Amino acid sequence: MLAVVTGAGSGIGAALCRALGRRGAHVIAADVDERAAAATAASIPEATFVRCDVTIADDVEALAAGAWREGAVDLWINNAGIAIGGATDELSLADWRRVLDVNLAGVVHGVHAAYPRMVARRGGHLVNVASVAGLAPYPLALPYTTSKHAVVGLSQALRAEARMHGVKVSVACPGMIKTPIWERSEVRGGLANGRGRMFERIAGAMTADACAAAILRGLDANRGVIPVTFEARAVWMLNRISPALATAVSSCLAGFARRLA
Ligand SMILES: NC(=O)c1ccc[n+]([C@@H]2O[C@H](COP(=O)([O-])OP(=O)(O)OC[C@H]3O[C@@H](n4cnc5c(N)ncnc54)[C@H](O)[C@@H]3O)[C@@H](O)[C@H]2O)c1
Repeated sequence: MLAVVTGAGSGIGAALCRALGRRGAHVIAADVDERAAAATAASIPEATFVRCDVTIADDVEALAAGAWREGAVDLWINNAGIAIGGATDELSLADWRRVLDVNLAGVVHGVHAAYPRMVARRGGHLVNVASVAGLAPYPLALPYTTSKHAVVGLSQALRAEARMHGVKVSVACPGMIKTPIWERSEVRGGLANGRGRMFERIAGAMTADACAAAILRGLDANRGVIPVTFEARAVWMLNRISPALATAVSSCLAGFARRLA
């Protein structure tokens, strides 16, 4: 099996690479942080690494061209992502652009580069890593929420379209996972005061390795949407049963978070 993973230098991406490596896959680990991608590749028997900034379409096209030179890619995972937290009235347009650039344009670039190659070969599995924030109203990180809802919609629609070509499409939607994203993420305005309490919650969260294992189980079963963690499943279900109730619960949680900060 030949697999490509973006954002492979850390967290869930690195864990996906390791899990795929344990299954005997040849893994191409791509990340904007070349040293991190190299470190991930070094931990896997058959792996190579590539520096790739997913916000640059030419980088992603070069990643795909290089990967397909090695063989037909069975699994392409658009995983790279960032987050910026904060109340929407305290975010700048630059915050919106940065998050949408990585989390949405990055996925679009991945789809644009990998999907036609999979269609041409009539096979392959394209996977996007979204979030629980793409399955429900997730306040106080609106650029992130917007990007993840878009990625869920894109993935579900592409899955419908791709089936006639023999190509599989899935979207993974993890809840809270213990990865460096939480320390890396900038938080704007008053909400930044609540970061200490947030880190306390993350300490008990699911590990990246457990998350990667859950995602691969979902892919084995060819699930369209793969919620990971109990919280993600519960929130997704609540939003489908009663969007009004899901919004009310989110509103209470947002008020609580603002008071804590
Ligand atoms: N950790 C969580 O709680 C959680 C929950 C739900 C969804 N997710 C999603 O999972 C994915 C991975 O997140 P993580 O928690 O492992 O984060 P992480 O910060 O540990 O890893 C993200 C990786 O993406 C890379 N990256 C960032 N910008 C990039 C770019 N422009 N081009 C290429 N690579 C880039 C980083 O260098 C890093 O190695 C993201 O899409 C994130 O939104 C994470």
